[in-house]
Amino acid sequence: MRRLHFLLLLLLSTLFLFQASNAHNITHLLADHPSFTTFNHYLSLTHLASEINRRTTITVLALDNAAMSSLLDKNPSIYTLKNILSYHVLLDYFNAKKLHQITNGTALAATMFQTTGSAPGSSGFVNITDLKGGKVGFGAEDNAGVLDTYFVKELEAVPYNISVIQISKPLPSAAAAAPTPGPSEMNLTDRMSAHGCKVFADTLLSNPEAMGTFKDNTEGGLTVFCPGDDPMKAFLPKYKNLTAAGKTSFLEFFGVPIYQSMAMLKSNNGPTNTLATDGASKFDITVQNDGEDVTLKTKVNTAKITGTLLDEEPVAIYTLDKVLMPGELFKAAPTPAPAPAPAEAADAPKASKSKKGKAKAAPTPEADSPADSPDGDLADQTADENAARRFEGATFLAAGFSLFLGLLLL
Ligand SMILES: *[C@@H]1O[C@H](CO)[C@@H](O)[C@H](O)[C@H]1NC(C)=O
Ligand SMILES: *[C@@H]1O[C@H](CO)[C@@H](O)[C@H](O)[C@H]1NC(C)=O
Ligand SMILES: *[C@@H]1O[C@H](CO)[C@@H](O)[C@H](O)[C@H]1NC(C)=O
Ligand SMILES: *[C@@H]1O[C@H](CO)[C@@H](O)[C@H](O)[C@H]1NC(C)=O
Ligand SMILES: *[C@@H]1O[C@H](CO)[C@@H](O)[C@H](O)[C@H]1NC(C)=O
Ligand SMILES: *[C@@H]1O[C@H](CO)[C@@H](O)[C@H](O)[C@H]1NC(C)=O
Repeated sequence: MRRLHFLLLLLLSTLFLFQASNAHNITHLLADHPSFTTFNHYLSLTHLASEINRRTTITVLALDNAAMSSLLDKNPSIYTLKNILSYHVLLDYFNAKKLHQITNGTALAATMFQTTGSAPGSSGFVNITDLKGGKVGFGAEDNAGVLDTYFVKELEAVPYNISVIQISKPLPSAAAAAPTPGPSEMNLTDRMSAHGCKVFADTLLSNPEAMGTFKDNTEGGLTVFCPGDDPMKAFLPKYKNLTAAGKTSFLEFFGVPIYQSMAMLKSNNGPTNTLATDGASKFDITVQNDGEDVTLKTKVNTAKITGTLLDEEPVAIYTLDKVLMPGELFKAAPTPAPAPAPAEAADAPKASKSKKGKAKAAPTPEADSPADSPDGDLADQTADENAARRFEGATFLAAGFSLFLGLLLL
């Protein structure tokens, strides 16, 4: 009951936060301008649209369909195109009036490209200069004084959150147009570490064989389900109990060798192979939808997808609320006793016992030992408790409070 309550609150607060943080919607703003459909399409495809929606005080330098086709003629990869387009998002608010009132007639504006870490030096800045005859020119900061891209017209303005203006042609930037590392050079573990999957990423880094399998699959398509830090941390004693081969299979089991967007996961129910699947060793995961939720199931337990950490085709990474356990390495817990109170009491000493077990670090046979007790419950319970504890954190309290106010207003 407490759990249901929590989930409901979490869901509602998430929705609330989501709405509150999206003051504007660039896709929607551009939808009224038929000559900008290509630009709009690629903002979504490169996931820049959601980044634009998250920010305020910005200016989008929009390119019409003709300007976009001149850009696309060069066949940039989607990653390069993302850099080029992010160079067209200024981190300041400029409408027509402000462009003509720039102090001393010239300014340098930082762009979203500058924030990506891919822009060497000041190559992520745009020079804006109020030229003679009422023209406003734009150029790369390091473009040897060439300012041959011009302001055309104002398209949309939500002062002072977002301004969308048309410019005459793509801004030339050698840095932004440079070939961009594809997903194989993308540091997956860094991404995971930075977004709540550090324990899993560190475990993966400590296992070169499993890490290699993940790397080999990034170019052709990869979906990773990474258990959140709290449940993964609680699970480590059990992981350490596995044999070397067991550890590798266990880690590989969290990767699926194809790219799956959230929409695909929602529409494809059923068993799927994992990177650990190898002939007789099935290591399957069963994907199931439960309303808006996507859950992953094995013979041992069920975990829920709690968020999208990365979704850039061909790689997607989702976070899980629990450590999903493959039936090949762990046994299903015996049906738990109906009374929850004794189960909780029984878990407490077990947790401290596992700490001692870790100190001993005795290698044990792979298949049986970790499954010798209804440990599935231990992990689950710990995860729930941690989730509940996190819920008491300031963010959720604040969100919950706003939600509460919101409900009062209804
Ligand atoms: C501008 O953004 C802020 C913060 O997201 C938001 O509260 C406000 O409503 C936005 N203003 C307009 C006019 O949309
Ligand atoms: C933004 O607008 C587009 C088109 O109107 C819509 O499909 C999309 O769901 C909106 N996105 C958000 C985050 O509201
Ligand atoms: C504008 O020009 C004056 C005189 O050259 C200079 O002192 C001032 O710092 C400039 N202001 C800006 C914002 O560049
Ligand atoms: C922008 O470029 C023009 C032309 O090269 C130059 O005169 C001006 O100083 C530059 N503006 C800034 C702020 O660097
Ligand atoms: C990713 O970063 C980690 C350290 O942050 C490093 O150990 C690892 O080798 C990097 N991987 C790649 C593919 O560069
Ligand atoms: C690890 O294996 C030992 C020996 O089989 C067992 O007693 C212990 O409970 C296991 N620890 C965990 C955390 O599964």
